Amino acid sequence: MRLRTLDDLGDVAGRRVFVRLDLNVPLADGVVTDDARIRASMPTLTELLERGASIVAASHLGRPHGRVDESLRLGPVAELLAELLGRVVEYVPTDGVLSPEVEQSCKALAFEPGRVVLLENLRFDPGEEANDRAFAMRLADLADDYVDDAFGAVHRAHASVAALPEVLGEQGRTTAAGRLLQREVDALSRLLFEPARPYVAVLGGAKVSDKLGTIGALVERVDALLVGGAMAFTFIAADGGSVGDSLVEPDRFDEVRAARDRADERGVVLQLPEDVVVAPDRTVEAPRHTVRASEVPTGEMGLDIGPRTVEEFARSIADAKTIMWNGPMGAFELEPFGAGTRGVATAIAGSSAFAVAGGGDSLAAVKKYGLEDGFDHLSTGGGASLEFLEGRELPGIAVLQVAT
Ligand code: 3PG
Repeated sequence: MRLRTLDDLGDVAGRRVFVRLDLNVPLADGVVTDDARIRASMPTLTELLERGASIVAASHLGRPHGRVDESLRLGPVAELLAELLGRVVEYVPTDGVLSPEVEQSCKALAFEPGRVVLLENLRFDPGEEANDRAFAMRLADLADDYVDDAFGAVHRAHASVAALPEVLGEQGRTTAAGRLLQREVDALSRLLFEPARPYVAVLGGAKVSDKLGTIGALVERVDALLVGGAMAFTFIAADGGSVGDSLVEPDRFDEVRAARDRADERGVVLQLPEDVVVAPDRTVEAPRHTVRASEVPTGEMGLDIGPRTVEEFARSIADAKTIMWNGPMGAFELEPFGAGTRGVATAIAGSSAFAVAGGGDSLAAVKKYGLEDGFDHLSTGGGASLEFLEGRELPGIAVLQVAT
C-alpha cells in the first residue's frame, strides 16, 4: 500500500484545499504553552500556499464533546498560525463549526489564492466525533481538495478524519496526506515493518491500563521491553513485591502476568526497575531516598527509577539498533524526580540506533533536557503513534492509501 501525498494532488493553483491539522496544543489561561504542533504543520501549509492554493484549515482542540466550550476556542491558535505563516488567518468564532458566514468566506477563497481560513474547533459539533456523514458532506462543500496532516488524530474515526475523505473520494475528488503525516508514516513504518535488531521499546507513564494494548502488541515485535514510570509497580506488585503507596492497578495483575509470560515464551527481555526513588508524597520538598523496587516501605511511594535501573536500561539501550520511547520514567516535572527520565532520554539520544520518541510527556522531556538532535524522529502523535506501532489499521491513514 502507498500513501497518497501532496505530490498526487496535481495542480492546486486557484483551488481550495481543506487541510485537517492537529492543532491540539496545550493552553494555560488562553495562552499556547507549546507551539510544536503548529510549527509541525508549516511545511504542508507553506507548500500548498506556494503552489497557489487557498486553505480551509481545521482542527480539534481538547475534548469538548460536541458542545461549545469558551476555553477551547481556536482564537489563540489562529494568532500563532498567522504569526508563523506571516499572513492573515481568517478565523471567525462561531457557535458551532459551520455558519452561513463561514460557508460564505470559504466560497470566496476560490477567487483568492493565498488566503487562509481557520474553522472553529471541530469538536464543537457533535457530528465530528460521531463520524457523521451529513456533517462531513457540509465540510466537503467548503473546499475542492482534501489533505490530512493531523497525524495525532489519524486513530480517531471522526468526521474530518474518516467520513470526509470518504465522501470526497466518492465524489471523485482528490484526497492526500500532508508532509507531516507522510514523514510520520515513513519513520514509524521503519519500526513497524523493518526494525534493525535489537529493537528496544521503552515505556513509561503512570497507568499500565492505558498501555496494556501497546505492551501486548510490542511483546510480539520487540527484542526488549523496558518498563519504567509508575506503571512498573503493577508488574512488581503482581509478582508479589511490596510497593508501599505507589500507584498500582490490582485489577490488571492478570494482564501484566500474561504479558510477562508471553515475553518469556518469545524470549523477549522484559526489564523492570531494580531500584526506585521513593518519598512520602509527590512534592519537591518531600524527603527522598532510593530503595529496591520490590521493597518500597509503607507510607512511601515510588516517584522515579533509581540510578542502578538507569544504568541497566542504558546498557540495553546501548546495544539497540532501533529504539522507541513513550512515557516518562518518573515524575520528571518535579526536578528531584527527573534523574531517571533524563538518564534514559540521554542514553537514547546518545545511542547510534534509529531512535523515535512519541507522546506529550516524552517530547516535553526531550525538549526540557535539550536532546532533540539525538532523536531521528519526534512523533507529534501520542495515542496515534502507539496504535500505529501496534500494527493497527488507523482510519485516517487507511482512507488515504492506494494499492501498489
Ligand atoms: C492528541 O493530543 O494525542 C491528539 O490531538 C488526539 O487527541 P484526542 O486524544 O483528544 O483524540
